[in-house]
Amino acid sequence: VASLNGYRPSKLVRIGVVGLGYWGPNLVRVLHELECADVVAVCDLEGAALTKIGRRYPAIRRTSDFEELLRDGSVDALVIATPVGTHFELARAALEAGKHVFVEKPMAGSVAEAETLIAIAEDCGLTLMPGHTFLYSPPVNAVRDLIRSGELGEIYFISTSRVNLGLHQPDASVIWDLGPHDFSILHYWLDESPVQVSAVTRCCVMPGIPDVAFVNLEYAGGMIAHVELSWLAPSKLRRTAICGSRKMVVYDDTSNEPVRVFDSGVDLPDPADFGQYKLSYRTGGILSPAIPPVEPLSLELRDFCRALIDRVTPRSSSAVGLEVLAMLAAAAESAELGGQVVLTSASAS
Ligand SMILES: NC(=O)c1ccc[n+]([C@@H]2O[C@H](COP(=O)([O-])OP(=O)(O)OC[C@H]3O[C@@H](n4cnc5c(N)ncnc54)[C@H](O)[C@@H]3O)[C@@H](O)[C@H]2O)c1
Repeated sequence: VASLNGYRPSKLVRIGVVGLGYWGPNLVRVLHELECADVVAVCDLEGAALTKIGRRYPAIRRTSDFEELLRDGSVDALVIATPVGTHFELARAALEAGKHVFVEKPMAGSVAEAETLIAIAEDCGLTLMPGHTFLYSPPVNAVRDLIRSGELGEIYFISTSRVNLGLHQPDASVIWDLGPHDFSILHYWLDESPVQVSAVTRCCVMPGIPDVAFVNLEYAGGMIAHVELSWLAPSKLRRTAICGSRKMVVYDDTSNEPVRVFDSGVDLPDPADFGQYKLSYRTGGILSPAIPPVEPLSLELRDFCRALIDRVTPRSSSAVGLEVLAMLAAAAESAELGGQVVLTSASAS
């Protein structure tokens, strides 16, 4: 976090932002403030979206024609924040036109599509970065440090809830909309992919669009995780509990104390007499580490600029995007099969 925050670019990246619905204007706002970026154009099919952004940023060129950005030789990179179903075609066209690409999560609609994008980016020597914003979140990084330092001991399990009322997506299930956040966070924390995945979903409101999902993940070392995703909930929850053999952590992204470390656990000492097991419970202090107040989106987009200026791999790399897609595909497949366990490619290694 600190190193990205202090990044001083050697040049400006000239950027076009595509998709100005719910999320795109946030990307425009943050890019507009970054010292390494120059937003030269914005694009949306909807005239109303263009008019709205034009009132705020009158100097930025507006167009409803994506091809116009592809033809513009002065544009170095495109930032794509359109619906998931359009990511592949737009990102592919951008790469083939020689533009670096930042594409919102999930990177594409399938593992095969993501592999195609990665191959084109590699062939053309271009940066392809998926927008896994939570990899830049200070609390997520604080938890990662706790896990990596061994302070929590062996991680027994992780349980996470990402639920709120809305926003129902017309073309994607809740797994594809909210799942990328938790799957990218789990991958970032654990540095491995689950060996098996199972999921059950229900389409409560719109036929054919699952709006609640319960996903179970199992890892090679025995660690298990449960991910609850829903657009139907009485209140917003962004809460993850990490249970380790030494300490436990609650990460609550809606709290002003987002990370709390509990010196709590249970030990099973060697029995004094054969068969006489006596558990010893520990409920110690609770620590709430200071978390730097930095906006993750700003770090993320700075990392994108740095990746293409310095020709380095961004933290939210295309490889991470591919892993996330493999997890999404496994969860979606299991849900289709009524919750059957699906083995992932990680189970083969
Ligand atoms: N990183 C995050 O935390 C985060 C948060 C919210 C959304 N997102 C992602 O952002 C993306 C967009 O989500 P949203 O909720 O803003 O969707 P949205 O439907 O509100 O907006 C999408 C916009 O794209 C435009 N569009 C569609 N096709 C286009 C095309 N071919 N050319 C130009 N414009 C086109 C639409 O007119 C619309 O204005 C999704 O991938 C979503 O997963 C990321």
